[in-house]
Amino acid sequence: MARRGSPLIIGVSDEGHLVASDVSAMVRYTNKVVHLRENELATVTADDFSISTASAKLIERGTETVEWRAEDAELNGFPHFMLKEIYEQPYTIKNAFRGRLEPGEGVPKLGGIMPVWEDLKNCRHMVLVACGTSYYAACVGKYIFEKLTEIDTEVGLASEFRYRKLNFPPNTFVVAISQSGETADTLAAIKEAKRKGATLLGIVNVVGSTISRETDGGIYNHAGPEIGVASTKNFTSQLTTLTLLALLLGRHQHLSLTEGIQAIRALEALPDQVRELLGQSSHIEAIAEKYYHCTNWLFLGRKYNYPIALEGALKLKEVSYIHAEGYAAGEMKHGPIALINPEMPTVAIIPKDEMYEKMLSNIHEIKSRKGPVIAIATQGDERVRELVDDIIEVPPILDFLSPMLSVIPCQLLAYYCAKFLERDIDKPRNLAKSVTVE
Ligand code: AGP
Repeated sequence: MARRGSPLIIGVSDEGHLVASDVSAMVRYTNKVVHLRENELATVTADDFSISTASAKLIERGTETVEWRAEDAELNGFPHFMLKEIYEQPYTIKNAFRGRLEPGEGVPKLGGIMPVWEDLKNCRHMVLVACGTSYYAACVGKYIFEKLTEIDTEVGLASEFRYRKLNFPPNTFVVAISQSGETADTLAAIKEAKRKGATLLGIVNVVGSTISRETDGGIYNHAGPEIGVASTKNFTSQLTTLTLLALLLGRHQHLSLTEGIQAIRALEALPDQVRELLGQSSHIEAIAEKYYHCTNWLFLGRKYNYPIALEGALKLKEVSYIHAEGYAAGEMKHGPIALINPEMPTVAIIPKDEMYEKMLSNIHEIKSRKGPVIAIATQGDERVRELVDDIIEVPPILDFLSPMLSVIPCQLLAYYCAKFLERDIDKPRNLAKSVTVE
């Protein structure tokens, strides 16, 4: 067999060898894998394998050990992998920062970026490129980098970025964000960025994946195998690693020791806050049951939570097939307000932050036009409770970490709407877990 474009992996076990395009397909049989590179050939038998170049030159390549366990690829009592992975987030967020925090110094430790650290610490222009949910993580990352660092940060939708006329300032870093590490558009985007002189970093979940090998350094998410096509736990892991990277750079720029320690303490508190929020899943299920028959939804957010409005809409679309739009709430008056009607629920993400009053006026505008509103608000917010039809309360948190919490209700709303509509939740129609084609 030959690797051309799509990934090809050989699994090596005592019972024999297997071949797949995704590590998660073999994790229940072995955690020893060999990744083929582009245009390499492999001959695999029950008890042996060999790899060669297209010109038949033999290649010696050892196995890599994936840190995943067989039970990670089992449902373990959950009805769907998507729900299991939503519930894994207290653990996977902790895994993303485990061993990477120096609380006393207020500085994370990220060994994977050390090969390029001398340039990275002086970087003042960064581009985050990705697709789909990973792109929305990049959009949150942009706000986090603007808050914590002096770095001019832009985001690029990989499928568009690769066709742009790229003209990078000196010492530009391009960061590819990808769960699978195999997304064709993201891979093509970073190859183009490399040609134009950028240094590449990868924030990836699958160890040894193509993007992790094509970049000059990176950070693994350690989220474990994500089997559900809809990305959930990997999204919050990506936000965690982006926060760690921004915090590390910020502490070598203007961030004080106090600010660093405050951010690290807030990260350490996150798993318990997510666990507490997951305790509201029955309440969220009841809200989904109230609105799952609606054929159009609107998600609104501002600043850090604008990308969560986009992600919430994507989650609902891809698992329940309900049409949904995510919008910057400030854009309502420029068009979408014409859509408001009693049959279209709006999910309004309204934490107690600097955008609160403006979000409140958006909710007033919707309510005055008889649109139902589901608010994702800060615990104890009576002003919002009195105004909206349904409220999901999240614990108070630092503004730049609020997306880590506000996305959980969005994931659960999507899951339960899909459940009531009896969709194929883990394998939604027309979708693939890893889009290795353009
Ligand atoms: C997310 O729920 C989707 N399955 C999809 O948008 C996904 O995020 C996108 O294809 C990017 O995948 P990647 O993170 O593996 O690069």
